[in-house]
Amino acid sequence: MVDDILRTPGAVRDAERWTAHNYHPLPVVISSAEGAWLTDVDGKRYLDCLAGYSALNFGHRHPQLIAAAHAQLDRLTLTSRAFIHDQFADFCRELAELCGKDLVLPMNTGAEAVETGIKVARKWGYQVKGVPAGQATIVVAEGNFHGRTTTIVSFSTDEDARADFGPYTPGFTVVPYGDLDALAAAIDENTVAVLLEPIQGEQGVVVPPEGYLPGVRQVCTDRNVLFIADEIQSGLGRTGATFACDHEGVVPDMYLLGKALGGGIVPVSAVAANSDVLGVLKPGQHGSTFGGNPLACAVAIEVVRLLATGEFQRRSSELGERLRAGLEGLVGKGLVAVRVRGLWAGLDIDPTLMSGREACERLAARGVLAKDTHGSTIRLAPPLVISEEEIDLAVAALAEVLAA
Ligand SMILES: Cc1ncc(COP(=O)(O)O)c(C=O)c1O
Repeated sequence: MVDDILRTPGAVRDAERWTAHNYHPLPVVISSAEGAWLTDVDGKRYLDCLAGYSALNFGHRHPQLIAAAHAQLDRLTLTSRAFIHDQFADFCRELAELCGKDLVLPMNTGAEAVETGIKVARKWGYQVKGVPAGQATIVVAEGNFHGRTTTIVSFSTDEDARADFGPYTPGFTVVPYGDLDALAAAIDENTVAVLLEPIQGEQGVVVPPEGYLPGVRQVCTDRNVLFIADEIQSGLGRTGATFACDHEGVVPDMYLLGKALGGGIVPVSAVAANSDVLGVLKPGQHGSTFGGNPLACAVAIEVVRLLATGEFQRRSSELGERLRAGLEGLVGKGLVAVRVRGLWAGLDIDPTLMSGREACERLAARGVLAKDTHGSTIRLAPPLVISEEEIDLAVAALAEVLAA
């Protein structure tokens, strides 16, 4: 009976019928959104506590971003990089200034930014550092998540992400995350880069021990190795600063950015670095048909301008403390541990109570959407426009779920 009335069950069935099952979404079918709120096909409202894995840091349909997109749609959407368009220089300059770097190379998805970083680091290694041809290695961390291409999954330590996708790309050395001695020991004369997430998001918002990132910076400087910070999920305001590296005063050689850079409207990613690094690329050696397209640049310029005000970083930092206080109050009441940086939280639920998936299903039933990472860990990453009352609402829903 209910099936006949509600549109959700049929829409879920259709989606399952017609797509490869490379995701396991919650059975919620969204049709519109505004700010921190989503509405499904049956008119039920949900508080968004995932924000498109941080792609929606500024909330759904932020007016300034939507206006920029509309204006650009009416003028020019795509040229390819064969020609220059009038949004390109402003985007690259403003993003470079936000990052404190000389140059920007725009791409589309996060994985493409990571691939770009790997290619640039290898070329830098051969042409600047003098590594023998074909010998370059990059040090990465256990528990990493950098995307889904064949090269990137080659150095994943998650068997689901990696198994049966070989043959794998060589040239990567995996070390435990947060262990500076292990990282230093893994570097040799052929190491061109260390590639790290300053906070491991997919792993469950894992924050490395204090001093680790400055230590990595120092080791990289001492050993003539590039420090590449994958800030695709952690950057652009999520943690209460422009970059997660900022919390420890660390400046990497290369920022990898994505997700929120597209304002939740278009996929936009970028690599930002100084000209001694990005300058190794010459025409014909790298590119993307859609990378840096006019629509992407027009939206991303406004994203950078929103961040340049500092307002979102401040909100994230201040509201993050409220989120932290609420979540820490649940430790021992169904939560085993919480890790919070800005409006980004990893919660370990007592595994004897329920899985992360079950917790997310129960939260959804109470009108809050979140996502499990693995096991009994879930992640909260609400849009940075969320209010104090909405944070309290999310924490109260979680308390109910844990108590039920
Ligand atoms: C840290 C990090 N790097 C890279 C990626 C890949 O980005 P995309 O899915 O846009 O390719 C992600 C996506 O979750 C990420 O969290």
